[in-house]
Amino acid sequence: MKKLFIVLGIIMIASIAFLYQGMNAKEQSKKTDVVLPATTLSASKLSELKNDYPSKNDQHKKLGFDCVTCHGDFKDPKEVLPLENKQCLTCHGDYKKVAERTSFLDKNEVNPHDGFHHKDELDCASCHREHKPSVNYCANCHDTKVWMKATP
Ligand code: HEC
Ligand code: HEC
Ligand code: HEC
Ligand code: HEC
Repeated sequence: MKKLFIVLGIIMIASIAFLYQGMNAKEQSKKTDVVLPATTLSASKLSELKNDYPSKNDQHKKLGFDCVTCHGDFKDPKEVLPLENKQCLTCHGDYKKVAERTSFLDKNEVNPHDGFHHKDELDCASCHREHKPSVNYCANCHDTKVWMKATP
């Protein structure tokens, strides 16, 4: 009899944990439409890595992304590669969608995502950086401060 109660207790705890996890996954998918991969890094390793590779992107930082979210699984940070556009776009939709977010800059054709000479061919990385301050590729030739804000 006692054994039966213990078994039932374990089943109950397991199903509560399962439901709770499901709720978390939904919470995340509301923000990004992407279910984030679970981390394989221990909490202490993760906080150590976050010190070495802090996020300079205010929003990403606030969301507390794990390294694995962007870089996939790795053992040694030396293995880690920079991101390609398509990896940013798994969460940000497509270039057109990104361009719509800054369409208030269209009237002078200075939308950094769809402007005078560049449509959707630029690497996000020519302006946005994750672990170091962002830059603005257009600023190589133009005084972009009169056009748009600093690259977030
Ligand atoms: C939101 C996505 C994102 C997250 C989360 C993220 N990174 Fe990165 N990481 C990048 C991008 C983009 C680059 C390319 C260089 C840059 O933009 O700073 C990069 C570059 C790197 C590099 C190569 C550095 C170099 O020499 O250029 C390492 C190592 C790295 N990340 C480690 C980490 C670790 C460790 C974590 C977790 C603490 C982490 N990253 C979290 C996006 C991310
Ligand atoms: C795992 C999902 C995910 C990935 C991968 C990702 N982002 Fe984001 N990013 C978000 C979310 C969620 C936000 C906050 C909501 C929003 O602005 O859409 C955000 C916000 C941003 C912002 C606004 C920052 C601010 O301070 O206003 C920029 C810029 C950005 N991301 C660029 C990038 C670039 C460039 C990459 C690829 C190197 C990338 N993101 C990869 C999910 C992601
Ligand atoms: C030529 C430089 C440049 C390139 C390339 C670029 N961005 Fe941006 N991005 C900017 C600047 C500058 C802003 C801020 C514009 C402003 O608000 O005035 C911005 C803003 C954003 C925002 C926030 C928009 C908001 O709602 O405030 C997101 C998200 C973003 N970029 C994602 C991306 C992604 C993803 C890519 C690659 C597919 C990319 N960007 C390529 C310069 C660039
Ligand atoms: C390699 C230098 C270079 C870069 C980088 C560059 N431009 Fe230009 N841009 C020029 C030159 C030169 C002209 C004038 C000649 C012409 O009409 O093509 C120009 C013209 C323009 C014009 C027409 C109005 C004007 O001021 O003459 C706009 C708008 C513009 N650029 C936006 C951008 C944006 C937005 C970016 C970043 C996505 C960018 N440019 C990046 C060199 C550059």
